[in-house]
Amino acid sequence: MATSNPDMSRETIHLELGARSYDIQIGHGLLKEIGIELTRLRCAGKVGVVTDRNLAAHYLKPVTRVLKAAGYTVVPIVLPPGERTKTLRSIGTVMDVLVNARFERSSTLLALGGGVIGDITGFAAAIYQRGIPFVQVPTSLVAQVDSSVGGKTGVDHPKGKNLIGAFNQPRAVLVDPVTLRTLPEREWIAGLAEVIKYGVIEDASLFEYLEQHIAPILTLSDAPVAHIVKRSCEIKAQVVSEDEREADRRRILNFGHTIGHALESLGGYRGLIHGEAVAVGMVYEADLARHLGYCHQDVVTRLRALVAAAGLPVRVPNMPFRALWDAMQQDKKVSAGTVYCVVPERIGSVRIVPLLKEQTRAWYETIRRGHTRSRQLIPNKTQQR
Ligand SMILES: NC(=O)c1ccc[n+]([C@@H]2O[C@H](COP(=O)([O-])OP(=O)(O)OC[C@H]3O[C@@H](n4cnc5c(N)ncnc54)[C@H](O)[C@@H]3O)[C@@H](O)[C@H]2O)c1
Ligand SMILES: [Zn+2]
Repeated sequence: MATSNPDMSRETIHLELGARSYDIQIGHGLLKEIGIELTRLRCAGKVGVVTDRNLAAHYLKPVTRVLKAAGYTVVPIVLPPGERTKTLRSIGTVMDVLVNARFERSSTLLALGGGVIGDITGFAAAIYQRGIPFVQVPTSLVAQVDSSVGGKTGVDHPKGKNLIGAFNQPRAVLVDPVTLRTLPEREWIAGLAEVIKYGVIEDASLFEYLEQHIAPILTLSDAPVAHIVKRSCEIKAQVVSEDEREADRRRILNFGHTIGHALESLGGYRGLIHGEAVAVGMVYEADLARHLGYCHQDVVTRLRALVAAAGLPVRVPNMPFRALWDAMQQDKKVSAGTVYCVVPERIGSVRIVPLLKEQTRAWYETIRRGHTRSRQLIPNKTQQR
């Protein structure tokens, strides 16, 4: 475990959901206190630590040690890393371990990892013996600012991402930003796309903060990183508490994801990683919004500049409109054949609008003409990785 900075204070964000309410704790070095935290949460008996091989190499031993010191019996469940692990087969693997280790209704699952591990663990906890408690210990930036908060859990189906799952809120989310120091750079930068997203949808001052502090953020300076993680969790918690099941308001979190998910699926989950696809999706959805008259060019210019400054891609690979439109149709946000898209009105405020095919095609053709003129599809930094 990397060393912690004892001067960094701990932040607690409460997610109010009635009986399913919980706290998100953010603290440098929190990983060393997981045993105490689980005791405080009244978790009893066995703890199944679900993680992946990358995380296990860094954190499984120290986490096991602190859990044992707090009196827990620890059962590690180590899965292969990556999106391809997010399958029903992995859920089967977790179930086998839990049955064989005689986990009971009072036993706890702990998700030690990125979004893949968090989504798998939450779903496994929802269905084992009709539900056992689970705690999120997110280790990637995507997981710390997004996937660990809000209770969406599940796995992919060969025909689509996140098609199988359940809403299942954790007992707590324990965020130790120190873990980000071992995160590969590409994953770290991809996570920044979701942070930028929060700025656009809800908080102009977060957006400005990112514009002003992108350099120290990219070098993982403690204070700016702690700030963006905290602010992102606050925004996500607020939006989720207003609309837990995504009936309406929670849909604003999908900004950048209509085109982003389409790009991800066109790449067969092997091209752009999620945050990169969302980055391009945000820039394009903002440009589409400008084309449709919802926002000023300035919004697109600032967003594109920040996305590029973060080292994220700002352009899609050249592809026919039909391929993109068809991929956008598969998105879960399609309702009765209409594609809904979150568009910015200004930095800090968005609305949800239906997209008409012909309007979208007209916009896309202008983009493609621009593409042919400029051959550089993505910034150099991303190309090199
Ligand atoms: N449930 C939700 O609300 C929600 C929201 C957003 C994304 N997601 C899901 O999250 C997943 C993406 O999450 P992700 O980007 O964290 O992917 P991930 O879990 O695959 O992690 C990315 C990579 O980084 C490694 N890693 C993670 N933390 C590390 C650390 N501290 N040190 C070293 N290596 C580390 C992992 O082993 C993996 O190889 C997708 O499946 C997506 O659908 C879910
Ligand atoms: Zn996302």
